[in-house]
Amino acid sequence: MSPERLYTNEIINNMSLKNKFLRDQLVQPIFIHENEKSENNIPGLGKNKILFESNIIKNISNDLKNGCRNFIFFFVPKNKDNIHFNTSFQEEILLKIKKEFNSEIVIWVDLCLCSFTKTGHCCLFEDQKINYTESLKIMSDIGLSYVRGGADGIAPSSMLSGIVNSARIKLDSHNFKHIPIMSYSTKFASNFYGPFRAAADSSPSFGDRTSYQLDYTNKENAIKSSIKFSDEGADLLMVKPGLLSLDLIEPIALKTKKPVGAYQVSGEYSSLVYLADNKLIDFDSGLLETWSSFKRAGAQYIISYGSRYAKRLGI
Ligand code: PBG
Repeated sequence: MSPERLYTNEIINNMSLKNKFLRDQLVQPIFIHENEKSENNIPGLGKNKILFESNIIKNISNDLKNGCRNFIFFFVPKNKDNIHFNTSFQEEILLKIKKEFNSEIVIWVDLCLCSFTKTGHCCLFEDQKINYTESLKIMSDIGLSYVRGGADGIAPSSMLSGIVNSARIKLDSHNFKHIPIMSYSTKFASNFYGPFRAAADSSPSFGDRTSYQLDYTNKENAIKSSIKFSDEGADLLMVKPGLLSLDLIEPIALKTKKPVGAYQVSGEYSSLVYLADNKLIDFDSGLLETWSSFKRAGAQYIISYGSRYAKRLGI
């Protein structure tokens, strides 16, 4: 991570400290729906709930009481569109939360279009092809709006080539040079995102994501992808699905010299939930074992749906 973006904040700084396992290295995902009438359960994700404007402060206060202060937000707008995307709801929520918690917490915001688009795809299509120019422009504008609302960092997850570069330029030209970018830099077209897509209301309505997400059988391309996003200016890199990508963490870190994290994705986390619900494993011990494996493989930070339990697990 570039030093100037590293030292501005203790929590972010802790994420990139080597050879340590600190609670701040665990990032807790939070789903926030604009539509308060949505169902709030997330099948497969245990006690994770969809949150709304009306209960978000209370929930974050609870997490904070348990020592969890590093979050990644996934916003789900009420109305879907394929051209116009309004982010005033997201900005308002961020402003409200930042006003309440200031620098006590860090908020990353996932930057993607899949919860916004009618198609459920992470980018815009024109004549069956990805419209790069328009997708990059719109996503960078959305990223800027999150940061204006008070996001401490943005996390582009679309895997579109050029998104980190374009988001960086946008932030820099609006006096946000100090805001870090956490790039989903090696993200496979995986079978393990099911529970997430239900929660984020983001399943593709046609085709799949193989035109922009990676083929999990190709190790070389997987490493190249992280190098590419590192060259575009990412401060933090990530492999995803985490448990299925342990072999990639070290090679990426060696090549890029940047902190590499792992996203324990929804399907991976659900496996633990289902096993525990059926009394086939002890949940806390199983979760801790997965986290220890991430650290053993060299992950410097971990995104996990169980991050809020870190203190209970002894971290
Ligand atoms: C948005 C995004 C996805 C995930 C994180 N950001 C879904 C996808 O790529 O289809 C998946 C996370 C999970 O399964 O926990 N593009």
